Amino acid sequence: MSRNNWGSKVKVVSGNYALSILTKLRDKRTGQIEFRKGLVRLGRVLGLAIYNDMPAKKVTVETPLGIAEGIEVPDAENVVIITVLRAAMPLTEGLVKIFPSARQGVVSARRVEEKGMKPGYVFEIELTYVRIPEIRPEDTVIIADPMLATGSTIVAVLKEVLKRGRAKKYIIASVIATPVGIEKILKNYPELNITIYTVGIDREINDKGYIVPGLGDAGDRAFGGCFWGVGTLSGF
Ligand code: URA
Repeated sequence: MSRNNWGSKVKVVSGNYALSILTKLRDKRTGQIEFRKGLVRLGRVLGLAIYNDMPAKKVTVETPLGIAEGIEVPDAENVVIITVLRAAMPLTEGLVKIFPSARQGVVSARRVEEKGMKPGYVFEIELTYVRIPEIRPEDTVIIADPMLATGSTIVAVLKEVLKRGRAKKYIIASVIATPVGIEKILKNYPELNITIYTVGIDREINDKGYIVPGLGDAGDRAFGGCFWGVGTLSGF
C-alpha cells in the first residue's frame, strides 16, 4: 500500500501547537523534564484529534433557563488505552486527560536489538509484562507508543490485544511514524479497523532501527538512559 492509498487510515495531526512541541522534542538540547512534558502535551493533542473524529450524537439538555441542543460522544466512554512501556507513559498521561474514564492496560515490550534488525525492518520483540483488560465489541482501543519505527513492536502488541477480545476500532497514537511501520501494521492486520494518528512522518530508519531524523530514543530522553536486565537487590 503506497502512502497515497493510506487514505483515512493515517491521520497526521498538524497545526502550530503540535508542530512546535514536536520541534522541541526533536531538538537534542531539550532536557529530560521538558521532553517528558512535551510528550504529555502531545498525548493531549492526539487525544483531542481522536475524540474529534469520534461520531457524535445530537442530544437536548435542559439548562436552568431552557432547552439547549448539544452533542454526546458515546465512544469516548468506551476507550481502552494500552501503554507500551516505558516511552509511552507520558503520552498516556495526556491521553487520559481527554479520556478520563478509559480502562488501561500495559505492555512491556523490548526490541531485541542485540540480535539485530532482520530484512524487512523486522525486530524480534520480547514481551516481559502484559496486563490488558477484557476488550469488548463497543471499545476503541488506543495503543500509545511515541515512535512507530519498524512496526514490529505494535504488531506484537496488537497480537496480545486481540487475545482479549475484538474491539470496534483500534488506534495507534504516535508522535513520529515511518511509512515502513505504518505499512507493516496495515499489512499484518488488514481485517481490523485501524487508524494511525501521528504528528510527523519521517521516511528513514537507520540500520539500528531508529527513525532519522526522529528524536532519538524516546524512553531514554524521557526517563534517562539505563541498561537492560534485572538488577540484583542485596541488603534487604
Ligand atoms: N524507538 C525510539 O525511541 N526511537 C526511534 O527512533 C525508534 C524506536
